[in-house]
Amino acid sequence: MSYECLEVAKEPPIATVTLNRPKQLNALGLALAKEIAEAMEALDIDPEVRAIVLTGGEKVFAAGADIKEMAEATPFDERVRTRMVFRDRLNRISKPIIAAVSGYALGAGCEMAMSCDIIVASETARFGQPEVNLGIIPGSGGTQRLARAVGKYRAMEIVLTGEFLNASEAHRLGLVNKIVPVELLLEEAKGLAKKIAAKPPLAIKLAKEAILKSFNTPLDEGIDFERKCFYLLLASEDKQEGMRAFLEKRRAEFKGK
Ligand code: CAA
Repeated sequence: MSYECLEVAKEPPIATVTLNRPKQLNALGLALAKEIAEAMEALDIDPEVRAIVLTGGEKVFAAGADIKEMAEATPFDERVRTRMVFRDRLNRISKPIIAAVSGYALGAGCEMAMSCDIIVASETARFGQPEVNLGIIPGSGGTQRLARAVGKYRAMEIVLTGEFLNASEAHRLGLVNKIVPVELLLEEAKGLAKKIAAKPPLAIKLAKEAILKSFNTPLDEGIDFERKCFYLLLASEDKQEGMRAFLEKRRAEFKGK
């Protein structure tokens, strides 16, 4: 598939999706949001791909929703509503997604990074939810994911002031897994993706699902869900292979079955 505002590079077992709308600072308009959802869903069912890196440019990851598109929007504007639906589709990707963030990750761009599973940032990364400056608030999960990631008080400060966090502040608050020099960002993110891609895919998929479940369920229900995933994996060929390989002191060959 080819895309207008995206580049997708497959290097099995990983793939890298790069936002490519530099003149608008990768603003997440309808077309780009649609392409991200489509590219991610295509990779999610691609058997050659086991982990995905999502990145932007050196100066900007994504500067938020497209303000030009939104300026005249009403609550009933189908384009805005559809764009939100495209964004929600990113949250349903079952494979691990690593965000590689350099430069600005603002508004919907910050929300998109937070929809990923791991965030690697360059030293120049800037995170923020500046929507209040435009008379709106985050609309793609920012208030919810940020509060869960950094806690109520810092989330309040970030959303209510609209001020940006630099990479080390974001790292200190737990919003970022790792900071690396900009020239090493993709290498680091891809290295992490490859490390995860070498693990048994079914276990990775259910581990991701179970961790995400923890944000939506009471503890006992979450533990119950985890237990069922655990039992289910006992039926996988990869479990047989993983345990046999351990006992035979050899490297396991996982097939995702
Ligand atoms: N939407 C549309 N266009 C955008 C944009 C956006 N979010 N962000 C930047 N651009 C455009 C600018 O209009 C400008 O276009 P022109 O060259 O045609 O004038 C171009 O990108 C370059 O931008 P700047 O000249 O402003 O670049 P800068 O380096 O001086 O500043 C910036 C960079 C700090 C990121 C600044 O562009 C900025 O503050 N952008 C807006 C960030 C923002 O408010 N994001 C939240 C959007 S709302 C949202 O995301 C809500 C939601 O999901 C529900």
